[in-house]
Amino acid sequence: TTKRVRVAVTGAAGQIGYAILFRIASGQMFGTDTEVELSLLELPVALGALEGVKMELDDCAFPLLKNIKCTDKMEEAFDGANWILAIGAVPRKDGMERADLLKVNGGIFGPLGKAMASHGASDCKLFVVGNPCNTNCLIAMESSGLPKERFFAMTALDENRAKTQLAMKAGVDVTEVTNMTIWGNHSATQYPDFYNAKIGGKSAAEVITDTEWLSGEFISVVQKRGAAIIKARGASSAASAANACVQGVYNLTHDTPAGETFSMCLASKGEYGVDEGLIFSYPCRVEGGILKVVEGVEHNAFGQEKFQTTLEELRSEKASVKEMGLI
Ligand code: NAI
Repeated sequence: TTKRVRVAVTGAAGQIGYAILFRIASGQMFGTDTEVELSLLELPVALGALEGVKMELDDCAFPLLKNIKCTDKMEEAFDGANWILAIGAVPRKDGMERADLLKVNGGIFGPLGKAMASHGASDCKLFVVGNPCNTNCLIAMESSGLPKERFFAMTALDENRAKTQLAMKAGVDVTEVTNMTIWGNHSATQYPDFYNAKIGGKSAAEVITDTEWLSGEFISVVQKRGAAIIKARGASSAASAANACVQGVYNLTHDTPAGETFSMCLASKGEYGVDEGLIFSYPCRVEGGILKVVEGVEHNAFGQEKFQTTLEELRSEKASVKEMGLI
């Protein structure tokens, strides 16, 4: 029997939207045994452009793509959705304070959580890409009243960026790098954990003996990669972000190969001393369809300090949105 999934995508006519829809429709996100219905949400001003994207999707004649709906109404877009990919968000503009950014996005993600609860399918899950993605996800989760296990935010792009940097430095193929965990917030405080990452099965910190590079340039390149791409391309990363989202949802819906892990932001149950309910990036695995945070990873003093910094940032983001009455 053929499976079918209904996927709602917000901000579908944006850069990431344009890069991701074709990959979802081709079967790369849910597998080639699963038919896809797309439900695309945009602001009224972008509905014309969205119609153009729909025309291009039609012109691909994807065998798995069974329906495309375009709308500017959240409730309509989320109707019966099994997955909501929340890509549309308001980016930080020059002179905008972080508090303003949290507030304006809170205005999107509060209603989004409510519409997810009232109109999504009974198993509806949310995957947040739009920044600040961890706290946007938290707001949606708190507003929805739905089980916390259905909420995710993306650090897969950071993980991929870190893997490639390590592979290039070690002079090995990128497939040699595994267990590359991003801990905490998808922001400049994230901790790309090279101590527990593996290259050819050994700690990356044993294979790459240049500790100064690892603890300095490596972390900063990963943290600032987004800005470097804007500088080079004149636009923010889109195809690589779309790729990470495809991979992120694939990872959540398929069992993880033995010994491997992937990075995912999800509601903490208190693992590693994180406050319960904070949307925190952890090493994860799916086994027999069940998602688990991998426990027992150890941090040295360096790691503990990085971990604490990113945890503190997420705590303060939560406190801010609480103060603003968004949760
Ligand atoms: P974009 O500006 O090209 O597209 C965003 C689209 O969302 C626009 O078409 C806009 O009309 C739409 N939109 C805005 N508010 C909306 C709302 N309330 N409902 C529905 N649609 C809405 O931006 P791009 O490049 O596609 O990036 C989208 C988001 O992804 C940004 O917030 C960006 O910061 C974030 N991002 C996150 C990454 C991650 O690793 N978590 C990586 C790269 C980008």
